[in-house]
Amino acid sequence: MVSKAVLPVAGLGTRFLPVTKSVPKELLPVVDTPALQLLIEECARCGLDDVLLVTAMGKSSMEDHFDRRLDLEAELDAKGKQEELALVRGLAELARIHSTRQGETLGLGHAVLQAKGHVAADESFAVLLGDDIVDPGSDYLERMVAVHERTGRPVVALLEVDERHAGLYGIASVEPGERPGEHLITATVEKPDPAEAPSNLAVVGRYVLPGSVFGVLEDLPPGRGGEIQLTDALGRMAAEEPIVGLVLDVPRYDTGDKLGYLQANVELALRRPDLASPLVEWLRELIERVDSGALDVAGPDDA
Ligand code: G1P
Repeated sequence: MVSKAVLPVAGLGTRFLPVTKSVPKELLPVVDTPALQLLIEECARCGLDDVLLVTAMGKSSMEDHFDRRLDLEAELDAKGKQEELALVRGLAELARIHSTRQGETLGLGHAVLQAKGHVAADESFAVLLGDDIVDPGSDYLERMVAVHERTGRPVVALLEVDERHAGLYGIASVEPGERPGEHLITATVEKPDPAEAPSNLAVVGRYVLPGSVFGVLEDLPPGRGGEIQLTDALGRMAAEEPIVGLVLDVPRYDTGDKLGYLQANVELALRRPDLASPLVEWLRELIERVDSGALDVAGPDDA
């Protein structure tokens, strides 16, 4: 049974400066909920109740978010704000949150390797990347775990991407899988030159891995960008025996990218009964103002 999740969250978030100077990017809200909370709720939904944050200096507010906050609880209780009280208390009950420090940030593979010891060599675990928000409420991760339990193979999320963007992702070489939506991955390459990408299928943000990956990671030389790459470890495992790619069939947002972050906020706000209708109305008006020239919109060359 898979019960542990590892979340590499040590990055400095430089693409989101200045806010990330003092706020971990994983705590930036999607509507009103930190991205990290969405990830841990996703874990909790499929029984992953032991979460290891691989974190860094200056980011301890991430752990605080999931701790009890007795002064706030007392205040909410005294004011009869029961709904808010339940919300705040519930955060501490989502999962058992552990943390370890990555120290030097030597790559995603190096971050995952920090879970060695917390996760046993004969235990399988999930890895969720903080920049990838998978449709909250979907059972996608649960299905990945089920595929892993059925096949005994590592399972990764696969997303069809524009071929021109292959250089942003780990890209998989695939053969047909056993069931619809599944591919067998025979090789992986981290951020290839688009002209040399073996496919347009990117490995994104969700992995269910056996503990034997630690031994593979320990043995890896630095890869792309001089970093220890998880994609290289997947490639080595796939060369021994194909691993499974489960096509992502639910919306996914890249909140590490400013446009992706804004899209996540708008689309997920549209799922809120209190926000959906006024937001749609405002979006319609906004587009009209843009189209009629009433709103000044920056051009691509405006600095
Ligand atoms: C990481 C991984 C890459 C993966 C991507 C998207 O890259 O190294 O293989 O495709 O996440 O989930 P990053 O975006 O952190 O540079």
